[in-house]
Amino acid sequence: MRVIRVADYQEMSDLCASLVVAQIKAKPDIVLGVPTGGTPLGMYARLVETFRAGEVDVRRASFFNLDEYVGLPHEHAQSYHAYMRRHLYDQVEDAFTPENLHVPDGNAGDLQKACESYEAAIRAAGGMDLCMLGIGANGHVAFNEPGCSLASRVRVVRLAERTVLDNARFFADPATVPRHAMTMGTGTIRDARALILLASGEGKAAAVAAALEGPVTSRCPASIVQLHPRVVFLVDEAAASGLTVRHPSWEEYRSDPHAETFLFQ
Ligand code: F6R
Repeated sequence: MRVIRVADYQEMSDLCASLVVAQIKAKPDIVLGVPTGGTPLGMYARLVETFRAGEVDVRRASFFNLDEYVGLPHEHAQSYHAYMRRHLYDQVEDAFTPENLHVPDGNAGDLQKACESYEAAIRAAGGMDLCMLGIGANGHVAFNEPGCSLASRVRVVRLAERTVLDNARFFADPATVPRHAMTMGTGTIRDARALILLASGEGKAAAVAAALEGPVTSRCPASIVQLHPRVVFLVDEAAASGLTVRHPSWEEYRSDPHAETFLFQ
């Protein structure tokens, strides 16, 4: 696992985008797991610039969102369907292949079947090459909340009270924040061949410390990263403030002559 300290949100976003672009160049039919929320917005903005400039071709790449609210219409501004269109897919004309863009269907008549189909679609695509993740202030990844099984698959979950409160900032009426979501499980995420985690801001410091320096425990689902062989965790100074281990900055990391060979180890 490579934990890399970055100065701030901007450096985290730019660095993450450049890592993703490098991975797409290396494997044009890459299968990506993609998050929503506030953290990846800067990274998507950078990706949009790169895609607009034609620096990389993403038509063969597949995208699988980590999660989606249950019961929120796809057209609702806060649905993750709408989020992905707004921040990425509709931003670059003709860059993406619509059949390759997947978001869980939180409005399916048969949610159980929709969960199974989503899991099967990831498998059919060849499994995720790279899954990007944010981290909740309570240590969740995707919507795997504290107390979940660390081997879970795509399923419907009830959101923790803390998550509902945290996400209320995106809704005009906090009372309308959905209470359930369809999410990749921790088992689904662990099957990805590589993970990139992003954490920015003091509000994430406790969760980052628990994930990286605490025990692997369902109390902090993000702690599964300790068991994954290929993880890059980009943490800005504020989010790293609870860590006792000192990790290299990107500058330090980059000046290591072996950096390229061990980035995703
Ligand atoms: C979003 C997701 C969540 C968020 C997490 C952090 O698809 O899976 O786990 O990554 O809640 O959210 P922000 O980035 O808004 O702090």
